[in-house]
Amino acid sequence: MKIKIESRPFLKGKGETLILGLYEEDSPSPNLRRIDRALGGMIEKAWDAKEFSGKFLETDLLRTNQKTVPRILLVWLGSAKEITLDKIRQAMGKAATTIRTAGGTNVAAPLLGMGSIRASVTDVAQAMAEGVILSLYQFNHYRTDLKEDVKEITGFTIFTADSSKKTAITKGVLRGQWIAEAVNSTRTLCNLPGNVMTPSRMEQEAKQLSQAYPIDVKVLERSDAEELGMGAFCGVARGTAEPAKFIILEYKGAKGRPIALIGKSITFDSGGISLKPAEDMERMKYDMSGGAAVLGAIKVAAQMKLPLHIIGILPATDNMPGGKAMHPGDIVKTLSGKTVEVINTDAEGRLCLADAITYSLRYKPSAIIDLATLTGACVVALGQHAMALFGNNKKLIEAIQAASDKTCERVWPMPIWEEYYSQIKSDVADLKNTGGRPAGSITAALFLKQFSDNVPWVHLDIAGAAWNGDQPRPYTPKGSTGAGVRLLVKYLTTLAEK
Ligand code: BES
Ligand code: MN
Ligand code: ZN
Repeated sequence: MKIKIESRPFLKGKGETLILGLYEEDSPSPNLRRIDRALGGMIEKAWDAKEFSGKFLETDLLRTNQKTVPRILLVWLGSAKEITLDKIRQAMGKAATTIRTAGGTNVAAPLLGMGSIRASVTDVAQAMAEGVILSLYQFNHYRTDLKEDVKEITGFTIFTADSSKKTAITKGVLRGQWIAEAVNSTRTLCNLPGNVMTPSRMEQEAKQLSQAYPIDVKVLERSDAEELGMGAFCGVARGTAEPAKFIILEYKGAKGRPIALIGKSITFDSGGISLKPAEDMERMKYDMSGGAAVLGAIKVAAQMKLPLHIIGILPATDNMPGGKAMHPGDIVKTLSGKTVEVINTDAEGRLCLADAITYSLRYKPSAIIDLATLTGACVVALGQHAMALFGNNKKLIEAIQAASDKTCERVWPMPIWEEYYSQIKSDVADLKNTGGRPAGSITAALFLKQFSDNVPWVHLDIAGAAWNGDQPRPYTPKGSTGAGVRLLVKYLTTLAEK
């Protein structure tokens, strides 16, 4: 999508549909009255007739007699006292998708005011751009039936009458565009089916990043991983004919100890020999959502030229029940040296992540953050509106919570008390890979913790948050949500500003 930033008055458009965000208490403001007069007083008349609800996210489409602004979409922001950046994101998303449905191809919006809430022009512009770009995402790659019928908005103009704000707006829009487009690419990686989004394809995606940005990519083949001693990752990879890839990305925007970002990258999770039931198994193409989020976040870090050293690790493989697949009861030796009894081959994510976490330690990271669609129990506990947050370090946990507050990518803190440890102790090995039904997300996280070697570490279980199987939300269509990208970028940019 083309985004333009202009300083111009309200009604000097080029035929775009104008998005007008209004607060319920605006009771036609003097500014609005002035615009409205040029439109023959239609807004005021409707207002007086109480035709508008003013409720947050409701919209009204008006047709005008102006060539420059033929249509205006009013989008209600609720009360000015309760406005937030996320509400701006939602309102812009709702407006953009409503206009797309109504056949509009170009939209324009004035920089929104934040009432009494303190937010910089840059942040508001960023939220506006994110709302529009995120909401308009569509996954139509395989819809040959749609052909010419795909509706698309191709242009977005954000304008202000105050030309002194243009620089700040430009900065925010650029950030918003980088971030939202990265989220959308991440969504596509996860929406692509398992026969396309293979470990080799993930390798390709990583290598494409390394061509466009100063990012180094190294890929370990299965045999390399075997030689290094990644018995857990290789154990999972045994069951599939699809070549596994252990992918390492390095962005060196600064010297010093890196941040390690690790993403679960199971390109399809059938469960292996502990086969999943058929119902909803197709969803398991998204079991590489953690890895896709890491790719998105590193891309934005490079675009923003953040002065940080970042390592990305994607242990990519299918989890399949092939002839050489692990059996329940098998014991594997992890890269750390710890042995694991594989009680259930469907608890494959923690096996791959264990070796990835251990591998990350050779970079002496100052922090490790892993993202994983790790447990069904997480979906049971939190649904799709939050990621479960675990960690071994208060400061790192708080930094992630702060990033969550700013982005509205919700995280919820969970305990990993040592009392749970008995559930994952094995009689025949050091650990077992499942802890039974009680506290399934917690025992999975506690398993991972064993490999973090007291390095500050956070684990985000994104099993629920990574997929919207419900209704479209204002800026989150159905399907993959791209969860984690905005959160990670916020964490990283905050760190870079320190
Ligand atoms: N990828 C799944 C987790 C998952 C399941 C996410 C359902 C979303 C919906 C993971 O690999 C898995 O299968 N976990 C098992 C672990 C169990 C065998 C201990 C689970 O949650 O059932
Ligand atoms: Mn599984
Ligand atoms: Zn899985």
